[in-house]
Amino acid sequence: MSMPRLIGIASGKGGVGKTALAIGLTQALAQAGRRVLLADGDLGLANVDVQLGLTVRHDLMAVLAGDVTLREAAIARPEGFEVLPGRSGSGGLAALDPAWITRFLALLRRSPHDDVVLDIGAGLDPVPRRLSAGCDTLLVVATDEPTSLTDAYAVLKLLARDAPRADARVVVNLATDAAQGARTHAALDRACRGFLGRGVALGGVVRRDARMRDAIRHQLPLLTRHPGCNAARDIEALAAGLVASRAAA
Ligand SMILES: Nc1ncnc2c1ncn2[C@@H]1O[C@H](COP(=O)(O)OP(=O)(O)OP(=O)(O)O)[C@@H](O)[C@H]1O
Ligand SMILES: [Mg+2]
Repeated sequence: MSMPRLIGIASGKGGVGKTALAIGLTQALAQAGRRVLLADGDLGLANVDVQLGLTVRHDLMAVLAGDVTLREAAIARPEGFEVLPGRSGSGGLAALDPAWITRFLALLRRSPHDDVVLDIGAGLDPVPRRLSAGCDTLLVVATDEPTSLTDAYAVLKLLARDAPRADARVVVNLATDAAQGARTHAALDRACRGFLGRGVALGGVVRRDARMRDAIRHQLPLLTRHPGCNAARDIEALAAGLVASRAAA
């Protein structure tokens, strides 16, 4: 059995749409026929469970503590993917020490899925930094806001140090259109080329779409609530790009 591909979703700045994209991407990959696990790695403020309206019985910490298996903790969704929730309300997960992070990543690598989508918390702290460096592919979510851009660059800079060969890609979210997304990516790519000696690929552009908020408000995955809407189509294209690059690898 081959190991799953670990696809991390990170950002510098918070609130740029990581969790929403993680859920959408997971669903799109599942629709493309892949066996996918969505793992909530936002250990401080886990919210995959909130956006999907899940009732959590066993969380990640219970799995790491050896109380339950990944299989027991994972929640099967009717859309054809599984979710490993980050919390069950116990809190206090943010201070995971490095050994636990290593165990978490090893646990995900042993899961019987084709892809694991890992929602990583915002920021540059040791936990998101270590999780980011441990992924096969890291999607760094940015918007065209200056603070989001500088923070996304900071994530890419640390990644270049921690995992110089990592497959990092920028995903521009909340874009007005594809052209604006391309410009935002070009700005980041220029900074990376100039200061890190290596550019960064564009994973995809996801347009601002009011139906995303509506889906979250109804605690339903976007592709279920609003199939075919702009953001859903963009996320499907992002998933197709990931599947194609896996096939080519
Ligand atoms: N493409 C989009 N179009 C419109 N709204 C969006 C889009 N993507 C995300 N949003 C909205 O942005 C808000 C933040 O999204 P989300 O919680 O997924 O961000 P996050 O990066 O995970 O935040 P945090 O850093 O707090 O974990 C949500 O209200 C969501 O509905
Ligand atoms: Mg989030």
